[in-house]
Amino acid sequence: MAITVTFKKSRSEKIHTVVFPVFEGAKPGAELAALDKTSGGLIAGALSHSPKFKSRNGDTLEIFLHGGSGLSRVILLGMGKAAELDALKAEEAGGKLFPVLSKLGVSEAAFISDNEKGLEKINGAMLAASLANGLRLRAYSFDRYKSKKAAGAKGGKKAEAQDAGKVFEKFELVGDSAAAAKALYERLDCVTAGVFTARDLVNTPPNDLYPESFAKFIADELRPLGVEVEILDEKKMQKMGMGAILAVGMGSARQPRMVIMRWNGAKGAKSAKKGQRPLAFVGKGVTFDTGGISIKPGPGMEEMKMDMGGAAAVVGLMKSLALRKAKADVVGVVGLAENMPSGNAYRPADILKSYSGKTIEVLNTDAEGRLVLADCLTYVQETYDPRFIVDLATLTGAMLVALGHEYCGTFANDDVLWGQLEASSAATGEKLWRMPLDEVWRKDVESPVADIQNISKSGRNAGSCTAAGFLEHFIDEGRTWAHMDIAGTAWRKTDLPTVPKFGSGFGVRLLDALVAGFYEK
Ligand code: BES
Ligand code: ZN
Ligand code: ZN
Repeated sequence: MAITVTFKKSRSEKIHTVVFPVFEGAKPGAELAALDKTSGGLIAGALSHSPKFKSRNGDTLEIFLHGGSGLSRVILLGMGKAAELDALKAEEAGGKLFPVLSKLGVSEAAFISDNEKGLEKINGAMLAASLANGLRLRAYSFDRYKSKKAAGAKGGKKAEAQDAGKVFEKFELVGDSAAAAKALYERLDCVTAGVFTARDLVNTPPNDLYPESFAKFIADELRPLGVEVEILDEKKMQKMGMGAILAVGMGSARQPRMVIMRWNGAKGAKSAKKGQRPLAFVGKGVTFDTGGISIKPGPGMEEMKMDMGGAAAVVGLMKSLALRKAKADVVGVVGLAENMPSGNAYRPADILKSYSGKTIEVLNTDAEGRLVLADCLTYVQETYDPRFIVDLATLTGAMLVALGHEYCGTFANDDVLWGQLEASSAATGEKLWRMPLDEVWRKDVESPVADIQNISKSGRNAGSCTAAGFLEHFIDEGRTWAHMDIAGTAWRKTDLPTVPKFGSGFGVRLLDALVAGFYEK
């Protein structure tokens, strides 16, 4: 259930759980100090008897107050050193606070922003807004398929609510800078909405999310926000000669789609020039990857519902840009197909003609993502001549072997774009690691019988690099391009402070920051 965040100058009396920020090596804020006085030193006493609570970022200490104070529970939330606190750390503290609040079984809590002394990197409003955003990011849950809703939630039974407590649903931010915090939060919340859309898409099972339903979702979700959505169906793609994406979808009863999303927001920008080339984002949207005829082993195959994580991130990004009315022209392209084995499936040894005209020898039907991307990449360059392309794809298992779930391996043919990506990564905490592009790997996918082949001649070695080498064959000479292999980061099995397990929405925040930071001036 989504959390509601409200902003007020003074606390609602009916809220009995109140959170205060405390900084390492600093005095408590004015309101906390006052409360300590009226409660007869209860807070100072609790602190002196809790040697493990060091006010480090995300540490919490729960204190119960006796009657008369109007509060029942105070939570001290460690923020680390005031001078070091930035928006990301405030967000992380908010993310760590959520499970603490949710375990209490209360439905609401207030955060009192009474301590802004010593802040150097952010102000009090930013602290409050980021903290609330972090809490909301962590509180995301995907319960659409639970017939028994969480206790207290809409449809939940009263008796359950009594057993398990209530579901946490309201966070009130209190302080003098409430209005400024609200404005900042609303901006952050546009991006969070995009992240949630990406997470929802990744978490949706493949019997409900397949190319046609995915395309319909995109149109229904984005058109009302002012995004132009164009859907290429199988017939259209056949006419156009998109032989690579079509081959991947051949084994499935669900026909493939390509969806093009356009956000034309540059008109409002100061530097807007007529006919300025758009930015392009391309996503792999394999709604389920069985491997096809080169079928994958059974155990773990269910995870391949997340093989559309790249497309989900592009859709989430377009939603964020539209919600916050980004002053940039951006085009998103997603290739949607289901990779299934059947009598109609494409096979190893097939030679395909891609939309670019290059022929591709299929040697493994499980290396399908690069085929889907190939036609999308050609299409977006030919149609929009973009200033740059960033593609996102759950492309290789080798990326998981190399970097696990923490870092996204990113290949870039341009140092300026890489620098911008690196800065956007630092600003959002979505971690990137630069990977090498090399002619050796481009050559490694040359085929003896066709122009190229879909797996490398050097076997499993450098699997992520050879996949990038394959994609490079579909990038025009001189085109600025980056490829983010999100195989490890699109899906998690464990929680991070602001990312609950399963679909992560990785890439939405980072690419939103890229557009905002470098292309909206
Ligand atoms: N979708 C997979 C890659 C993947 C694996 C994503 C694990 C997320 C988690 C991709 O289509 C694939 O199967 N790649 C093959 C390529 C190989 C056949 C060259 C792989 O990585 O094994
Ligand atoms: Zn595959
Ligand atoms: Zn795949």
